[in-house]
Amino acid sequence: CHLVPGAMAYSARSNISDLVLLEKITEDEILKALKQRFKADQIYTYIGPVLLSVNPFKMINGMYSPSKIKDYQGKYIYEAAPHVYALAEDTYRQLKVDRVDQCVIISGESGSGKTEASKKLMQYIAATSGSSQGIQSVKNKILASNPLLEAFGNAKTVRNNNSSRFGKYMQIYFDLRNDPAGASIINYILEKSRVVCTAKDERNFHIFYQICTGLPMKEKQKYFIQDPKKFKYLTRSGCLKVDHMDDTRELKETLHGMHAIGMHQHEVEEVWSLISAVLWIGQVEFAPVTGDKSKVTNLDVVDKISTLLKVSKQAVTNALTSRHIQAGPGKAVLTYLDVEKAEYTRDALAKVIYSRLFDWIVRRLNVSLDLSHQTGSSKVDKKTASKIGVLDIFGFEIFKINSFEQFCINFVNEKLQQVFIEKTLKSEQDEYKSEGIKWVPVKYFNNKIVCDLIEKKPNGILKYLDDECVLPKGTDKTFYDKLVNVSFFRNHKHFAIPDVKEQGRGKNYKPSFILKHYAGDVKYCVAGFLDKNKDLTWKDLLDLGEESKLRIMDSMFPRGASSGMGSKRPPTIGTAFKKQVGQLMTALGSCQPHYIRCIKSNNQKRAAIFEDDLVLHQIKYLGLLENVRVRRAGFAFRETFTRFLKRYKMLEKSTWPQWEGSDVDGVVKVLKAMKSKHGDYELGKTKVFIKHPVTIFQLEEYRERKIHELVIKIQTVYRSWLARKHLLELRENSLGLFGRSKLRRTCSIRR
Ligand SMILES: Nc1ncnc2c1ncn2[C@@H]1O[C@H](COP(=O)(O)OP(=O)(O)OP(=O)(O)O)[C@@H](O)[C@H]1O
Ligand SMILES: [Mg+2]
Repeated sequence: CHLVPGAMAYSARSNISDLVLLEKITEDEILKALKQRFKADQIYTYIGPVLLSVNPFKMINGMYSPSKIKDYQGKYIYEAAPHVYALAEDTYRQLKVDRVDQCVIISGESGSGKTEASKKLMQYIAATSGSSQGIQSVKNKILASNPLLEAFGNAKTVRNNNSSRFGKYMQIYFDLRNDPAGASIINYILEKSRVVCTAKDERNFHIFYQICTGLPMKEKQKYFIQDPKKFKYLTRSGCLKVDHMDDTRELKETLHGMHAIGMHQHEVEEVWSLISAVLWIGQVEFAPVTGDKSKVTNLDVVDKISTLLKVSKQAVTNALTSRHIQAGPGKAVLTYLDVEKAEYTRDALAKVIYSRLFDWIVRRLNVSLDLSHQTGSSKVDKKTASKIGVLDIFGFEIFKINSFEQFCINFVNEKLQQVFIEKTLKSEQDEYKSEGIKWVPVKYFNNKIVCDLIEKKPNGILKYLDDECVLPKGTDKTFYDKLVNVSFFRNHKHFAIPDVKEQGRGKNYKPSFILKHYAGDVKYCVAGFLDKNKDLTWKDLLDLGEESKLRIMDSMFPRGASSGMGSKRPPTIGTAFKKQVGQLMTALGSCQPHYIRCIKSNNQKRAAIFEDDLVLHQIKYLGLLENVRVRRAGFAFRETFTRFLKRYKMLEKSTWPQWEGSDVDGVVKVLKAMKSKHGDYELGKTKVFIKHPVTIFQLEEYRERKIHELVIKIQTVYRSWLARKHLLELRENSLGLFGRSKLRRTCSIRR
């Protein structure tokens, strides 16, 4: 590494690249500092090791160039201007040096720049790790996974033109040489309701528009693809195009991703068939038939669906217009659907196909990225590999109408805030306490109370929702009435019921409740909560999927799954999500965390606009003020006496090479030798706490120098040993020569 001790830290101080160095710590001062930096195109700022990133909504010249990557290679975080590359370097270095698993938690509201940050991070690791053929192929696959997942899982929303409508935790595995050896992806609930219903000015998932505009004519004909304007699922929101987004070009990226992960031609073709089938399912229309039944009125559409799905026409019409209802164990009764129910079933079919296709793509990516499929030279398995996890999860969001999806999204964001609180604010302060370090506690809002309100039994909202889902007569309204009438909720500080006026009257009545999240108050409309939580996929739809002759449908709709239905109730979406979130928290808890906190500069998604109110609101709920306070009063570095001494004992004569005294005395000896005064550091019970980064830079620099000296010393000793050895060998050889020649002479005499 190229340490420039002190210098960088001081220059960093002069332009406040670390908010810890602010003279006055207030939210306004933080805002001012961020604004000043934003105007100078300095979008990154630190709070100690935490990286803040303010979305510039424009490409800043040279910001992510290959030479920029070089600028950060081998540097410590305080040695160069704040950057996502610096955080990536720090994360990667810690993995290499300590061989401890790392994770990067990227948080922030929708459109704040999380996905972009995660991509830059991966690009940095790819650019700075090994480049043998096997490794290069792994890296290509990892990078190719981004456009692929974005095509199928991202969409234009009013908040973000490329909004992630699913959560993603990617773990990159490293071999014993610290090169990427494989990866795995966990995905979190896809917002599948978007397939059939999109809010005004929003779009469906990108892939639909990509194939409608980008596929060659011949293929369009093969899959019955037509202009997006003609598909109902794409036109309802009145938005078909996204500024600065070229769907045809994006399709090329998607195809590149598909090829990079080794998708076979038949797989690509079947994916297009399924996407088209979803669009055509949306075209099906029904008319009433006597006796509360319905029939499909456009049978040509059914023809197309049956061709695309490789199922019989009859199977399609049956699945859309009738349903088997369980009437006891092993006994099902066929009922017919009226128009309204048939339309509901049609949309459910489109959603289940699309969401299972998305899951299939993630599974396919995982197969391709799996460690066992790589050809790299140093083989590792999941246990021996070290890993870096990157979490890019849907940001906290508040819409005009918020439904079950927002409830889940905002719940996981609450949990991530918890991790942040636990790992930075609370643990930092707890450590001072347990180590007996003098410390004035900093108050902060602990959002655990909101997490509990949502998930903790016996009273959590999710529990009430699940209970209502199993009641035969449970409806959104009965669920809502329970929430309103239970005193736990009525008296809860973070739960409220909007005014009657706001809930509407008569036909417009929309029962809703407010949750006071750490990031703001959100009004949730309960309509659809029960259905979305139950995620009803009835047997007839699964049967249709199982009947399909498309090969990829085999794993999307495994045979026999539908006949097993009814025996055991599957977990609700809410409960399954809660479990997944719990597992995510455990995974994050077992890693060394790094944080990128993304901030949205404006709501218009435009460059050079910095909306004070919007940013200030984020500063408040992200708890940046508390973060600065804890960090400022805290210490830049801490380490156990033992590890500190092991690393730096060569800096002091009496501790090198062997120190007989206690570790803590050894540490003090080293620090005194470095002319550190008491106050620059504190001694806890097991750890030494160092106040300023500059002290660490000095220690590191002297250590480097010392190692250099030692290397020279060892080289000198080695060389003189080598020379002596050579001399001895020469002498021995010359003796041998002499002996042999004597022998020959003797022989020749005898001859
Ligand atoms: N560092 C950056 N430099 C330039 N533009 C950026 C940067 N970060 C984000 N943007 C712009 O902002 C847009 C939104 O960013 P991004 O998709 O990363 O947000 P997000 O936080 O992932 O939102 P969501 O939660 O909706 O998925 C990007 O498409 C890009 O145009
Ligand atoms: Mg995103």
